[in-house]
Amino acid sequence: MKIPEEKIQEIREATDIVELVSQHVTLKKRGKTYLGLCPFHNEKTPSFNVDPVRHFYHCFGCGAGGNVFTFLMAMEKIGFPEAVRQLAQKAGIAMPEHAEDDFAIKETEQLYHVNQFAAAFFVRCLKETEAGGKAKRYFTERGFTDEMLETFGIGYAPKTWEGLVQAAKKEGISTAALMKAGVVVESQRGTGAYDRFRGRLMFPITNASGRVVGFGGRLLVDEPRQPKYLNSPETPIYQKSRLVYGLAQAKTAIREQGQVLLVEGYTDVVRLHQAGLPHVVATSGTALTHDQARLMKRYAKRVALVYDGDSAGLEAAQRGAEVLLAGGLDVSIVPLPPGSDPDTFVRASGAEGLAALIETGKSFIDFRLSRLTEAGRLKTVADRAEAARGLLETIRKIPEPIERDLSMKSVAEKLDVDLRVLARAAGKPSGSDLQHDRPDGRPRAPENARQVSEKMLIRLLLENSGLWGDAIFNLVEPQHFEAGPHRTVVETIHAGYLQGEVPGLQQMLDQFQERPAVGKYLTDVMAEGLAEEIDLSRLGLECAVHLRKLELQTEIEASRLALKTASGEEMLVLHKQYVEQKQRSLGLRQVLESEWKKLVEI
Ligand code: CTP
Ligand code: MN
Repeated sequence: MKIPEEKIQEIREATDIVELVSQHVTLKKRGKTYLGLCPFHNEKTPSFNVDPVRHFYHCFGCGAGGNVFTFLMAMEKIGFPEAVRQLAQKAGIAMPEHAEDDFAIKETEQLYHVNQFAAAFFVRCLKETEAGGKAKRYFTERGFTDEMLETFGIGYAPKTWEGLVQAAKKEGISTAALMKAGVVVESQRGTGAYDRFRGRLMFPITNASGRVVGFGGRLLVDEPRQPKYLNSPETPIYQKSRLVYGLAQAKTAIREQGQVLLVEGYTDVVRLHQAGLPHVVATSGTALTHDQARLMKRYAKRVALVYDGDSAGLEAAQRGAEVLLAGGLDVSIVPLPPGSDPDTFVRASGAEGLAALIETGKSFIDFRLSRLTEAGRLKTVADRAEAARGLLETIRKIPEPIERDLSMKSVAEKLDVDLRVLARAAGKPSGSDLQHDRPDGRPRAPENARQVSEKMLIRLLLENSGLWGDAIFNLVEPQHFEAGPHRTVVETIHAGYLQGEVPGLQQMLDQFQERPAVGKYLTDVMAEGLAEEIDLSRLGLECAVHLRKLELQTEIEASRLALKTASGEEMLVLHKQYVEQKQRSLGLRQVLESEWKKLVEI
């Protein structure tokens, strides 16, 4: 069953788009709209607009756009029904009973459902089974509290082959659904499936809003040929490179502190959280990505990398720092003594010990230079030149010009090289987000007259179809619009028009929530500023005339081409047609203008 349109409207109207977006983006009022850094692409100058009156957002950089529902869908990677449900809950609006049955449960919803079920199952096993008791003891003996079990939803996967499979069956969850979520593995013999996680302490991995998307499971006892940690495979809702572990538990603290502590392991996160440093997240053993940098930047601009003190950890810290710098974050690197990781360090030296160490965190430049010094690779002039070149490569990627400049100065000073030489060697900044912000780095193509005309007509129809519908559709039809999102939009409006009710911007955004290109087009159309004094009627007419002219020009061109090869009778017919078309073209404006004036004033 579909969610009734009135419900959707009620929820939409009850949701403040500025407030919703503000939870992810820092917005500043600028004229009639709010402006901030786009959460959908990496940028340094804000081009993300929120229109509080017409209830939509639009990014002039990457073109992303939509309403409260599409925003939440994109941020949380959820489907439309789930976005509606969440906002209904926030607004305190009751939804139909058995919401789960009523909505067509889309695949992502099902994935969330299965993961949530599995998480609850693992927790039950930890609390209620004997083997689970052992797992709990393991946790406690490592010095973790029961409170952390709750905070991180930690559970236990029993050492059986079908524990989860059977429990799920009772709940009516199919094996196919379990398989899609990756919590079970298809059996080799082709019949059924068995539990993926067996005999492991289970760390649920959640997205930023706290919904379980996957798991990391740790062996309680080392076993040959078994990895210490086993993770869920990637699914549409669990993409390792786009999540950081512990964000849901950390985000409030991160905002308060203005800083993220970034560690490598699940246990590091739990340890620091327990020790009173809750602004901590982990990359879970994979290399840090740009998506993760962007994700963290939504909450704070400063990141302290607290990686293991071994050489692998130092290498990872260095690479991670480069990614963070390129993402426009302020990075400090906190090298732990060799042989310790954040977990063991806090156990040995306490939270104060770690906090003090974090205070002394090094800038990327100092970190690199001290590593080079230790390796004895800063002795000669050639060494220093080499080091300068290496550092420059990273510095060039820093998006903010001021910070880039300061880093350059610092390198010049520390390596005692001439700043001007360094600056020349650095050349132009290389980051694609330094020019104008488009995800692919290219500037937006200027619009041609056709596109502008189409946009304006759609704008008028969306703003006030009652006023403009008759006049516009008297002169142009959907076929006059270029194929693509424009055409789709105008076709939808036209169909509504014929039935006596044109959908407004919000209904259109909802209707096309699965097609971001159309959503982007819609908000793009609406975001364009229209000068107050502009004569909308004249504008509409000009745009319609332009599209009709283009149509006629195509016809004329076709006749002209046909004439070239025609002969005899056919040529005479074609010629007549050609002349007639030419004449029509001359009188076109006048004809269209008088048609227009019959329906609206100019
Ligand atoms: N990891 C993984 N698979 C492995 C080993 C590690 O996914 N086979 C990831 C886990 O996210 C782990 C992180 O890498 O938390 C760091 O690994 P490691 O330092 O070995 O684990 P710890 O988190 O320190 O775990 P523990 O303290 O329980 O040994
Ligand atoms: Mn570790």
